[in-house]
Amino acid sequence: MPPRTERLILRQLTVEDRPALNAMLQDPRTMTAYEGPFSEAEVTEWLDRQFDRYRDDGHGLWAVVLRQTGALIGQCGVSWQDIDGRHVLEVGYLFNRARWGQGYATEAARASRDWAFTELRADEVFAQVRDTNIASMNVAIRLGMTIRSQFVKRYRGVDMPHNAFAIDRAAWTVQVARESVPDPSR
Ligand SMILES: CC(C)(COP(=O)(O)OP(=O)(O)OC[C@H]1O[C@@H](n2cnc3c(N)ncnc32)[C@H](O)[C@@H]1OP(=O)(O)O)[C@@H](O)C(=O)NCCC(=O)NCCS
Repeated sequence: MPPRTERLILRQLTVEDRPALNAMLQDPRTMTAYEGPFSEAEVTEWLDRQFDRYRDDGHGLWAVVLRQTGALIGQCGVSWQDIDGRHVLEVGYLFNRARWGQGYATEAARASRDWAFTELRADEVFAQVRDTNIASMNVAIRLGMTIRSQFVKRYRGVDMPHNAFAIDRAAWTVQVARESVPDPSR
């Protein structure tokens, strides 16, 4: 079962989620790091890839739903990726632009990170982030991740410098204890 948090429910995506997915994947600003919005065919391919991951691995990018309203506000989850020559578990996140700036991505990504360590017994969890994507790097840093390497990824015909962020099990144990202390600024 995908994880749940105080404000969010993570669950598998379905074909009924297509309008909410289009709203994210076809929004030019949201898709800046992916070199522009997706066509209908690219959204279909994206969704089919998640269905393949659910079938083959038992996990992938999940839908992130607001507990309070049931609205699908983003995608987040754990998938296998080849990062800088290694086959590793990655936490991915992509949210509807109207929902940025409220801590939802960090909340969902923390739960996904924890899920990878507890359910999959991961030794290390990664996040690959294009080096221009500050908001995404900030999420990785809030997860307690640090930069392990830099590499160039070719995607949609463009060479994109990326940072490989990661956290290992020992650092995660410390990080989880740190996160359990309430933040007085919130
Ligand atoms: C990456 C992405 C998910 C980050 O979204 P985000 O809204 O910046 O991240 P969060 O949801 O964790 O929100 C953090 C912000 O909410 C604020 N916030 C407000 N209420 C909060 C709360 N209750 N708890 C935590 N943070 C809160 C934080 O202070 C922070 O603000 P800041 O950006 O001014 O520092 C978003 O930019 C996105 O979807 N981008 C497009 C897709 C993409 O590039 N994905 C990554 C590919 S590697």
